[in-house]
Amino acid sequence: MQMVGSSVGVRPRTGSDPTVNGSAPASMGSDPVRGLTPIDKLLSEIGRAVQVLDGSVHASRPNPAGKYRPDDDATALTPEEQRHAAGLMRVNHVGEICAQALYRGQAMFCRDAAIRDVLYDAAAEEVDHLAWCRQRLDELRSGPSLLNPLWYAGSFALGMAASRAGTGKNLGFMAETERQVEQHLDGHLTDLPKTDERSRSIVVQMRDDEIEHRNTAETNGADVLPAPIKLAMRFMSKVMTVTAYRL
Ligand SMILES: [Fe+2]
Ligand SMILES: [Fe+2]
Repeated sequence: MQMVGSSVGVRPRTGSDPTVNGSAPASMGSDPVRGLTPIDKLLSEIGRAVQVLDGSVHASRPNPAGKYRPDDDATALTPEEQRHAAGLMRVNHVGEICAQALYRGQAMFCRDAAIRDVLYDAAAEEVDHLAWCRQRLDELRSGPSLLNPLWYAGSFALGMAASRAGTGKNLGFMAETERQVEQHLDGHLTDLPKTDERSRSIVVQMRDDEIEHRNTAETNGADVLPAPIKLAMRFMSKVMTVTAYRL
């Protein structure tokens, strides 16, 4: 595993945040806010939140489920299976909304430019997950959670709190989040209908990416978080998953 300054543990990106300003000079790495004034940063974050929440972000990698054919679900899923798969994919979509907000918040007060790049690079990769989950929800004739603005705001605040706690704890928060997401996605691979190959393909790729994100955080010096913090994170995650399945 590579160390910071060389695109640590995440796939090489083009040095830009595709959901904010399009592109940034190569010398700026992948940090889209470096050199901006506080007002510029605030406007950038608002713009980013709007793009994430209105579904206008685009994946940079092909959908692991492949090209959609309308008859796929007609032949593979019963109405009950379709409803259940939609609930699970809505939970995953909310998780990716939270991931976007968390990483942006974690980068906000991070003073280490290389670690900030790690956070922005991971966030850029999570955009793919966000777009794939949204596509699958559309295919399942369902939609995202109505509470997404609340999830985004709460997660961004949480990310900012982590970034204030210092680099080790900030990375520790990233590692623990990814670990819990990985376990959660494992559970979904058990729960999803066996015939829902499209959702399953997306979840498998997401899980592989989350493992890579956790490895990245650990390699770069993530602290182990205190047990009560981990427990609180699990509790909040449980509230989110139960709510998002229905709403
Ligand atoms: Fe993700
Ligand atoms: Fe991740």
